[in-house]
Amino acid sequence: MKSTPIPSEVVNEVIDAFGVHPAGKATIRELVKIVNDIEGITGLEFIRMEMGVPGLDPTFVGTEAEMIALRQGVASKYPNIEGIKPLKEEAARFIKMFLDVDVDPVHCVPTVGSMMGCMATFMVVNRSDEKRTGTLFLDPGFPVQKQQCLVLGHTYGSFDLYDFRGDRLEEKMEEEIQKGHYSSILYSNPNNPSWICLNEQELQTIGEISRKYDLTVIEDLAYFGMDFRKDLSKPGVPPYQPTVAKYTDNYVLLISSSKAFSYAGQRIGTMVISPTLFERKYPDLKRYYTSEKFGHAMIFGALYSLSAGASHTAQYALAAIFKAVNDGAYNYINEVREYGAKAVVMKALFQKYDFRIVYDRDLDEPIADGFYFTLSYPGFEGPQLVEKLLYYGISAISLGITGSTRTEGIRACVSQVRRDQFDVLEERLGRFHEDHPIPK
Ligand SMILES: Cc1ncc(COP(=O)(O)O)c(C=O)c1O
Repeated sequence: MKSTPIPSEVVNEVIDAFGVHPAGKATIRELVKIVNDIEGITGLEFIRMEMGVPGLDPTFVGTEAEMIALRQGVASKYPNIEGIKPLKEEAARFIKMFLDVDVDPVHCVPTVGSMMGCMATFMVVNRSDEKRTGTLFLDPGFPVQKQQCLVLGHTYGSFDLYDFRGDRLEEKMEEEIQKGHYSSILYSNPNNPSWICLNEQELQTIGEISRKYDLTVIEDLAYFGMDFRKDLSKPGVPPYQPTVAKYTDNYVLLISSSKAFSYAGQRIGTMVISPTLFERKYPDLKRYYTSEKFGHAMIFGALYSLSAGASHTAQYALAAIFKAVNDGAYNYINEVREYGAKAVVMKALFQKYDFRIVYDRDLDEPIADGFYFTLSYPGFEGPQLVEKLLYYGISAISLGITGSTRTEGIRACVSQVRRDQFDVLEERLGRFHEDHPIPK
């Protein structure tokens, strides 16, 4: 047997001990554990592409504001569940400046990351009508959101958006909606993992469908402003981050601070509820909450029962970050552009060794360079490829776990890979290619 960059007996031992076969069927966090264990035993560093951990320093104004708040003693006080005033005000301003959408501070609520914002949203949206408890996912997507639906006992359906872009979207959505008992639609834009970016026409379609079938759109903006083909970085100046909020008043926006502001560790995000939806009354909500009003049920029902608000200091951090970007004093997109620049180099390396980009088009353009890209290698299914690459010191996840129909594919995340690892990546890809020649 040929030797591999990571000793095969260690990889085998760790995978066997973990008990998920092939290892590529594992969830993101399980793969993190497998790779940590292999690195721990061998002392050899992986090219880590399995998890979307920001690879940049946290936004400085955030950590400074947080330390000041901590010294001032906010740690001993329960934060208001609705969020502290300066954060709510700057969040509403951010929505105006970067989405060109009008909401009031009352509609902007901090959450413990978008993960928790999403859980709370399912808890209210999918309980607003007792006859409808499901979410239609425009996949591929972030696997744990389906896990959230499952643990809540909600149903879900999905289709692979890539096959139904542009004019084909409306018919496909209608077909799916008529099959299920949906109360909500969820997608991320830019999309994790394919990095396709829905355009205004598609968002208009989604907005119209939301109005026609009375469905709440959960728009996950975890990669806010990160379509680097356009300059979305100037406050109050077009172009803006495209959003469904322009086309329906039945929406919840989830704005993560993790990637855009490199603030994943502090678990803080912002939920923005459409002003109309916030006030809307759903009698069926009274089954779970004291009020039938959506906004009230969300804050004093769902968010209260989940964590009674978001960490006090992190709220001060996010207020300061929003203020700096709203004032134009800090251009957050200039920082995260590095992900796109690394993607250019990494994609070229993979392609040099006969890997293919799976989701390679964004309508009539090549897919943009961003936080993720997708890969396949002739002769492999996704889970097998993920497992095989572990022997070459490269970690990724299988597209199968994202709801993708491209079962041959894997997702690569650029964020944790350092530029000084590019030579090692190339060497390992070369070895992989040599050991797995493509039949002519
Ligand atoms: C599409 C998507 N939504 C939500 C999240 C979670 O965001 P947060 O860290 O704010 O909980 C992620 C993180 O990777 C993501 O990719």
